[in-house]
Amino acid sequence: MTGTKSKQLFERAKKVLPGGVNSPVRAFDPYPFFVQSAQGSKMYSVDENSYIDYCMAYGAILLGHAQPDIAVAVQNQLSKGSLYGAPTEREVEFAELIAKSSPCIEMLRLVNSGTEATMHAIRAARGYTARKKIIKFEGCFHGSHDSVLVKAGSGATTFAAPNSLGIPEETTQNTIVVPYNNVEMLEEVMKREGNDVAAAIIEPVLANVGLILPKKDYLNDLRKITYAYGTVLIFDEIITGFRLALGGAQEYFHVKPDMVTLGKVLGGGFPLAAFGGKREIMQNISPIGKVYQAGTFSGNPVSATAGYTILRILHQKKNEVYPMLEKNCVELSKALADTAKRYKIPAQVHNIASMWQIFFTDQQVTDYGCAKKSDIQMFTAYFHELLRQGIFIPPSQFETCFLSTAHNGEDLKHTIEAFDKALGKAAKEKTN
Ligand SMILES: Cc1ncc(COP(=O)(O)O)c(C=O)c1O
Repeated sequence: MTGTKSKQLFERAKKVLPGGVNSPVRAFDPYPFFVQSAQGSKMYSVDENSYIDYCMAYGAILLGHAQPDIAVAVQNQLSKGSLYGAPTEREVEFAELIAKSSPCIEMLRLVNSGTEATMHAIRAARGYTARKKIIKFEGCFHGSHDSVLVKAGSGATTFAAPNSLGIPEETTQNTIVVPYNNVEMLEEVMKREGNDVAAAIIEPVLANVGLILPKKDYLNDLRKITYAYGTVLIFDEIITGFRLALGGAQEYFHVKPDMVTLGKVLGGGFPLAAFGGKREIMQNISPIGKVYQAGTFSGNPVSATAGYTILRILHQKKNEVYPMLEKNCVELSKALADTAKRYKIPAQVHNIASMWQIFFTDQQVTDYGCAKKSDIQMFTAYFHELLRQGIFIPPSQFETCFLSTAHNGEDLKHTIEAFDKALGKAAKEKTN
């Protein structure tokens, strides 16, 4: 797809923004398309190309771009002011609705990004337990703050920088990394260190190294083991929250952690996230407790209005929304797997609820190590051909594709045809 204007903008951008972007995953070779506008399932570029979007702002958009109810609610709020630095009724009713949706939440605090949510959840767990160490799981991404940027997925994997420069070793020496989906290793570590571990933080469904599902009973076992050692179990549901179900992975897998972090979908397309959980942990947060947490923009009326509006819709329509998303996702994933088979391409297609991803490998993918063994070159060829066909998926193998309720039958049909062309081309290039 030609993109003279995008190309020019990228050249300009590179002079003022590192790599020409404001978040590393957005950059891809030779240059990303620049967005003019978005509506429903589509994004429109400055070059007047249109794309069926399966990136959906990395999972943040569940009801499609420019969802009318959210747009109207936000416009109404804007005319009344965008930031007060004082509490509003909207924050209270929104917090009540979040607590009603998320099984483990008795109290919560609103913040502005997932990174803030996980950082403060970990601090709260450390404050509550008076312990220093934390466990994270290989490939799980919990935002870009220091203590969790170790063997993280997403951009940190794509750019081969699992440990970032600028993070002192002393900062991560209290972070223990354990493989995902491996109960034995977790038990071993906990036997040795369990009494010093404040928190175990995990993406219940690993969505930042591609998409990897938890093995049967894995999350239950994790719950039992952390409980036995008095370690706070934090589900990072920044991606899975309101996507797997209204109550996220907790509801989907019937496992209740002590704390949860939520973001992306929760903000209805605006910067907003939350962390919350058991009252006995959350009541240590300032001003009632000694765990400090604060934010100028936290709970701002614009984001809170967008979030409240999407949650109201999801509560009203959950019985239609989630089954429909899952049905469409199964259709796409099945078509993708069948097409790969037809072209004799070794591939694993994973899907759950409205999320899916393909790994080009003949081996099962159950953890970070397996994901890294898949054929990245083939993924890149597949990505570029899809783009030429007007389909935008996240450019990296180590991300996940997302559906919204705005994707319709036409979109799916076009996408399935594009799968055929993209995999056909990838197979041909491999043979040559
Ligand atoms: C599971 C998970 N946790 C935390 C974050 C960080 O969220 P944010 O980008 O809003 O800071 C992300 C972002 O992709 C994520 O996928």
